[in-house]
Amino acid sequence: MSVSSTQSIPDATDTPRHVVIIMDGNGRWATQRFLPRTAGHVRGVQAVRRAIEGCGRAGVKYLTLFAFSSENWRRPQEEVSLLMRLFVQTLEKEVGKLAEQGVRLRVVGDLSAFEPRLQDLIKAAEARTAHNDVLHLTIAANYGGRWDILQATRQLLKDHPELAQTPDAITESMLAERLSMAWAPEPDLFIRTGGEQRVSNFLIWQLAYTEMYFTPTYWPDFDADALGLAFDWYRQRERRFGRTSEQLAKKSKY
Ligand code: IPE
Ligand code: IPE
Ligand code: MG
Repeated sequence: MSVSSTQSIPDATDTPRHVVIIMDGNGRWATQRFLPRTAGHVRGVQAVRRAIEGCGRAGVKYLTLFAFSSENWRRPQEEVSLLMRLFVQTLEKEVGKLAEQGVRLRVVGDLSAFEPRLQDLIKAAEARTAHNDVLHLTIAANYGGRWDILQATRQLLKDHPELAQTPDAITESMLAERLSMAWAPEPDLFIRTGGEQRVSNFLIWQLAYTEMYFTPTYWPDFDADALGLAFDWYRQRERRFGRTSEQLAKKSKY
């Protein structure tokens, strides 16, 4: 169950426990090389593999990757179809290896929009890796932070219709428990590649106290060194969660 950083303060560690990544810049990586945008997505899969390995080696316990946003349906139809095909192919190809490496795979988002074959593949991959605990890998697909808060609210009212009469009784944790990643601790480190400095409707509830790292590197170029730089930057942060630097210094003395 997640611990909300606004309610209780998690222990700070040098290695982020939960890393979330907006894998951006595939299209520009390809355009720069006079290739179709889709070539950037194909190449981006290698960077996904590297990120999983790099996080595993560093001892990160949870890695969450934004693969397709609820807004990405607005892209040209050929690009959307290629992304879906790539998702299917990658799942088919990689799940065996992930299972062997002790990775537990989950997919979050409104999966009802995907074709049945993809939904079945996702279910099978989740079931096959359900007993693993080395690295919890989550792919956010057709995910939107606003959708997540809305579905949690709907679920809460379905579970407790009486709360509609006593809304003051609703607590933060009642909603947090129903978010689609309720099992994971809140993200420690957010990485966005590709140079944009925005959240693009990713985990908007959960990012309340996350350290935000932005790099101009395009996703297909994001390698072990680039990940190392993000970890170095994270280590320099002072995570105050509303307190003062002096309070933190005192706490670390005892
Ligand atoms: C991220 O790269 C991949 C997805 C959104 C699926 P983009 O495709 O957004 O690449 P740019 O931002 O256009 O370069
Ligand atoms: C965010 O990237 C979504 C993913 C990486 C899956 P976008 O490229 O879609 O974000 P915007 O449109 O630049 O905000
Ligand atoms: Mg983009």
